[in-house]
Amino acid sequence: MNLAEPLQKFATNSLEAHWMPFSGNRDFKANPRIVVKSKGMYLWDHKGGKILDGTSSLFNVAAGHGRSEIAKAVHAQMLQNDYSPAFQVGHPGSFALAAKVSQILPEPFNHVFFTNSGSEAIDTALKMVMAYHRARGQAQRIRFVSRERAYHGVNIGGVSLSGMVKNREAFPVTMPNIVMLRHTFDADRRFERGQSERGAELADDLQRFVETYGGATIAAVFVEPVAGSTGALVPPKGYLERLRAICDANGIVLVFDEVITGFGRLGKPFAAQAYGVMPDIITMAKALTNGAIPMGAVAACDEIYETVTNAAPENAIEFFHGYTYSAHPAACAAGLATFDIFEREGLFEKAAVLSDYFLDAVWSLKDIECIYDLRGDGLIAGIEVHHDGEPGRRGQELQKRFFWEGLHVKFTGDTGILAPPFIAERTHVDEMIDIMRRVLTTL
Ligand SMILES: Cc1ncc(COP(=O)(O)O)c(C=O)c1O
Repeated sequence: MNLAEPLQKFATNSLEAHWMPFSGNRDFKANPRIVVKSKGMYLWDHKGGKILDGTSSLFNVAAGHGRSEIAKAVHAQMLQNDYSPAFQVGHPGSFALAAKVSQILPEPFNHVFFTNSGSEAIDTALKMVMAYHRARGQAQRIRFVSRERAYHGVNIGGVSLSGMVKNREAFPVTMPNIVMLRHTFDADRRFERGQSERGAELADDLQRFVETYGGATIAAVFVEPVAGSTGALVPPKGYLERLRAICDANGIVLVFDEVITGFGRLGKPFAAQAYGVMPDIITMAKALTNGAIPMGAVAACDEIYETVTNAAPENAIEFFHGYTYSAHPAACAAGLATFDIFEREGLFEKAAVLSDYFLDAVWSLKDIECIYDLRGDGLIAGIEVHHDGEPGRRGQELQKRFFWEGLHVKFTGDTGILAPPFIAERTHVDEMIDIMRRVLTTL
């Protein structure tokens, strides 16, 4: 298949009109990688190449590609009710999906606010925190805590919380009053698998902020339980627990950004359950609809929902926030169908069972000379290579090389992140690792 064929279907032979996100536009357009088909564990490119999807595309296609159950549910929903107003009017799907999400969330998470992406979920969570503190008479809590190397999406709230330099240096106007915990990467702990026994004390940075700024001025702490986009940094044992304890002692809201870890990536519905630490708010997106339709969500614990809603007069709007497409009927249908698949196929359990085999396979790469670090937990692993003098350049080149060698692996800087769909069999893991070894041993 040549490039002209799929593009002709869409009546264009030019790639120029689309300014692509998070992409080297000029480099890409000189040598494009166009996916024209996807099914199960694979993508197919415009030249006919078959590519194993090693990162569940962007961590979202957890149940594999081309799930006809989702397509049929969305189709039926579009014929039944394609769209109805999101504000002051409801449709059955949103209540059903919120109930489903609540069922797999830990107690006391019983309230779900829908967005269209992880970035919107983060900005929604920021506003939820502000509304909560205001409702309980603590509007002086103006400071937010995030962490170096964090990724919380691309809206201004998320960029303000971002700890990845490339994502923020070009955008200097961000929210004020954000302070950063140190990241949890430690060169001395390289190649440690799962949660390290060392490093919990890094959470004491939060205690220092309490002592520097006053605990009563801090609104919330945002952390990804596993820092995903920076390259799979797993929390040290006791780290999340310590953050929780300091938040409790100071009335600070703890937000887990589970956009990547939510929906089974760590073998449990959420990282909160996998690591046994309960936050107050959980953001999610990605696998919620298996990538078929954009959707994100924010789950609030009862205390936050009830405080915000009860603070407003009866009949009043309590939270002045929402999107035209919050809880879009098609997205809700996709989410419900995705849940059916997760449940019917036991995919979270399957992810848990595959984890050891997957991590063993990743760690089998340890002998390759160019590898600087391996880290991971559940079904997510970071494979970091030594940079070549200019950090990130090798990673960019590797992402392209892997693609042409038949493996999609998302790179961030010089770290490739493997996060296979939960339908993966051991043979798929073997195939991923074989391609990894073949390419990495040539460096
Ligand atoms: C932890 C985390 N938060 C937020 C986001 C942003 O999600 P989206 O790209 O859907 O806006 C991402 C995306 O990768 C993420 O990994």
